Amino acid sequence: MAHDHDHGHKHKHSHGHSRSHSHEDIDWATMGPMLERNAELAAAQNREIAAWLRTWQPEPALIADVGSGSGSVSFLLAETFPKAEVIAVDPAVPLLERARARADREGLKDRVSTFQAELPEGIGELPLADLLWIGRALHHVGDQEAALASLADRLAPGGAIALLEGGLTPRSLPRDIGFGRPGLQTRFDLADEKWFTQMRAELPGAKAVTEDWPTLLTEAGLRHAGTRSFLLDLPAPVSDAARVHVITELSRRREMHADTLDADDLTTVDRLLDENDEQSLHHRPDVFLLSVQTVHVGVKE
Ligand SMILES: C[S@@+](CC[C@H](N)C(=O)[O-])C[C@H]1O[C@@H](n2cnc3c(N)ncnc32)[C@H](O)[C@@H]1O
Repeated sequence: MAHDHDHGHKHKHSHGHSRSHSHEDIDWATMGPMLERNAELAAAQNREIAAWLRTWQPEPALIADVGSGSGSVSFLLAETFPKAEVIAVDPAVPLLERARARADREGLKDRVSTFQAELPEGIGELPLADLLWIGRALHHVGDQEAALASLADRLAPGGAIALLEGGLTPRSLPRDIGFGRPGLQTRFDLADEKWFTQMRAELPGAKAVTEDWPTLLTEAGLRHAGTRSFLLDLPAPVSDAARVHVITELSRRREMHADTLDADDLTTVDRLLDENDEQSLHHRPDVFLLSVQTVHVGVKE
């Protein structure tokens, strides 16, 4: 399992629904800058995915990016498909506002618009799209099968859905970093699994499902047309932006997993985050960024 690590464990959900204020709730509304920074680092990977999607949709007229956040990928799709109109769809109003502000700034208001909606039910009024992109968002919906069914319903005949789920968890350090117990990132993976399971269990309408995405696309009435994985490979020495990303991710994950990691690992993490420590992420020459994103395509026939 590879989840994005765009999770903060904030205390309220962003779009006005009453929810249990458990420690696993995610405050997406505040995450625009982080989502944008991540998308910037992954831009080449996302462009590669978009180019692959031309196999099924060489010239989509209407694209919807569902769970778009502030629309970083929506803008990449607008660039890859210059004749298409793109709709960024998300429940979090502040993120959609960021998307609209960017469309305005870049003179793209006539091609990139927003639509506030929450899966699974909320997209009934969305116009039929030729290409639906749903990136790292489906796993934030309690009933993923219902969400896929409603997405399939908003697809024009012959249209394709690109579902980005799974892949490989990111790596950014060697197994042995010269202090602490080797294998820190593997132990973070286990903590992520625990966090993710609890996050999903607490979603409204949470429903367990086998995460066999091709089968789920088929069950939503689509033809599973392909699955491919895309590499994000930023070797050391990394850019300042990638370094900031790695530091921000580790500090957020330290907060998320403070109850799960043992004291030794927390000490190691604190050294990695300490700007005054020569061995920290701020100064180490060996920081890299390596991850894999898997994309499943379903076509409506
Ligand atoms: C990890 S972010 C991904 C954002 C963007 N797709 C990207 O790849 O940068 C998950 C997004 O899903 C949205 N989201 C959460 N629950 C949702 C739901 N039930 N329906 C639609 N979108 C949802 C969040 O508001 C957030 O913008």
